[in-house]
Amino acid sequence: LRNFPFFQDLEKEDLDKLSPLFLTRTYEKDTDVFREGEAGDELYIIHSGIVKIYRDDEVRDIILAIFRDDDFFGEMALLGNEQVRSASAKTMEKTVLYVLKRKDFVSLVHDTPKISLRILETALDRLRKTNEMITDLTMRDARTRIIKMMHRLIEKHGVSQKSGVLIDLKLTHQQIADMTGTVRETVTKVLLDLQNQQAIEVKKKKIYICNLAEFERLVET
Ligand code: CMP
Repeated sequence: LRNFPFFQDLEKEDLDKLSPLFLTRTYEKDTDVFREGEAGDELYIIHSGIVKIYRDDEVRDIILAIFRDDDFFGEMALLGNEQVRSASAKTMEKTVLYVLKRKDFVSLVHDTPKISLRILETALDRLRKTNEMITDLTMRDARTRIIKMMHRLIEKHGVSQKSGVLIDLKLTHQQIADMTGTVRETVTKVLLDLQNQQAIEVKKKKIYICNLAEFERLVET
């Protein structure tokens, strides 16, 4: 647990107390961890793998966030007034999760101000990103939304390579559409355009941004 940013402020004796409370659970790719509206009784920390947080109706999905190792999720149903899941969570590849039960999580938050602060900081960062997303959805055209989304993905999923950055996520055009409030055909067109301009390359479903400085100029314009 020491390796998780979440726990790095804890004293060794607190960590020793905490470790046995975690269960480990393995999920195959494309498996629901939970669905929006279900009662929630557990918090999850990602040991390995990728999880998408999304909302859906019969017609389409909207992806709110994509989490990977070291991220946690599921805290809202445990700390918020509404005790149900505010969104669904599904694995995008085989994933191993650490699971903490509500009562253990709540006593951890009560007993450890540093952990509470970290949860608050993370929740506020997520709120800030969601605000950005709402602004983009209402004020930007689809091409700009897609470019800004790629730029946002770099923060968590970017790996530097040569002069550029690889977004280390296998994404379908449909998933990019679900993150940017557009349709698959538009994503296909915008990605082709950006490839023709040599701004990006797509390698095995992963997007490589060829030159970060130049790409950032695209984000600004
Ligand atoms: P919970 O409501 O228990 O279940 C869904 C989880 O998704 C939620 O807790 C948060 O951990 C996470 N989540 C919900 N909304 C967002 C968002 N806008 N951005 C990032 N994560 C979110």
